[in-house]
Amino acid sequence: MQTPAVLETPREAADRAFQDRIVDNAMMQRVHEARERGLYPYYAEQVPVGSNHVEIDGRRLLQLGSSNYLGLAADRRVWERVVSAVAENGTSCTSSRLLTGTRPLHHRLERRLAAFLGKPAALVFPTGYLANIGTIPALVGRHDAVFYDADAHACVYDGVVLSGATAHRFRHNDVDHLDELLAKSAAPRKLIVIDSLYSLNGDLAPLAEMVDVGDRHGAWMFLDDAHGIGVLGPGGRGLSAACDVTDRVPVIMGVFSKSFASTGGFIAGSADLIDHLRFNARSYLFSNAIAPAQAAAALASLEILEAEPDLPRRALDLAERARGRLRAMGWRCGGDGSQMVPIVIGDVMLAFRVTHALRDRGVNVSPAVWPGVPKGKDLLRIGFPPSLSETEFEQALLAFAKVAEAIPEARLADESRPKLRVAG
Ligand SMILES: Cc1ncc(COP(=O)(O)O)c(C=O)c1O
Repeated sequence: MQTPAVLETPREAADRAFQDRIVDNAMMQRVHEARERGLYPYYAEQVPVGSNHVEIDGRRLLQLGSSNYLGLAADRRVWERVVSAVAENGTSCTSSRLLTGTRPLHHRLERRLAAFLGKPAALVFPTGYLANIGTIPALVGRHDAVFYDADAHACVYDGVVLSGATAHRFRHNDVDHLDELLAKSAAPRKLIVIDSLYSLNGDLAPLAEMVDVGDRHGAWMFLDDAHGIGVLGPGGRGLSAACDVTDRVPVIMGVFSKSFASTGGFIAGSADLIDHLRFNARSYLFSNAIAPAQAAAALASLEILEAEPDLPRRALDLAERARGRLRAMGWRCGGDGSQMVPIVIGDVMLAFRVTHALRDRGVNVSPAVWPGVPKGKDLLRIGFPPSLSETEFEQALLAFAKVAEAIPEARLADESRPKLRVAG
């Protein structure tokens, strides 16, 4: 902060201090740079059109940038259930669950989730973010230790910080490092927190090995299965079911904002755990109940998933086909074994350019750039919902082929590539 030449009032000093904070920081400077270059891709108004399209600035694009993994977000069957739930319950519970906010719908959803995942009980939070920042501090405190993956989601990290427990960050997916850190800890309670499927690089966690390590050191496992439940494992029951360790993972967290065509989050676990959270998870206690429409959409989606157990397989197959074709064009894709198809571009402005070039060719994608991903790992998040027709799938791949030709420096983005300089 610069010291001004003339004496300023306390209010002027405050304005200057906040100017430093809210305008002149590294993040906002990058935003301004991207805006000035006409490359800024975020906060575009996106109007959904049918199941697979979106309208941006009057143009109709295929939507590959969302987490609508099962393609249920525009499914008529889900809408109809939402409409009846609103007719029966109104638009808001206008209270926390503890007071006047609990509806039969919430309990139906919780029972069904618990049964689906093979756990005795479940608790629904207004969002997945709130589930994590409420549950982690309800389990560990300042005398305890928490061990979390270096690439875990921001709300895992925020939950860890809020808990006040001694935080140990282990290298991404590194079982030996986790083992080493656990061995050194004498904390009375040890909690391991990992994502199942890492949203920004498409990596799957080595869950079974981590559960083994945790069991050896007397640690509990908290699995954030936000991206796995709905798609991975038998019938979409998540990574713990895929690895056959559900009984050994005491805390399973999931969200409705991806496969379940809604918003909201949940924790599944023992009856005692869930009862504890009802009274101790502050983000649950001190926040309004999930709205009836959201709960109804999640329940309808879960029922569709149970009735159509091959839906996850279709999502996985489509992603695998897409990865093969995109790799053949030279794009560097991750996400093997999952429904995600992240494409590493490796440079912020280049990722933005590719986003615009794809939008110009009829495909919408989401760029994820530093600091959301490590420096030099800037990427595009794309997914292929099973609601896509074969024609739409081919249209999407054609757009990628054309962009690969138009911006050749964006593909074959291997580790050894020299740092790119992107003109204008
Ligand atoms: C791994 C992971 N956990 C938690 C969340 C938070 O979920 P929600 O969007 O429901 O708040 C997300 C959301 O993007 C996520 O990717």
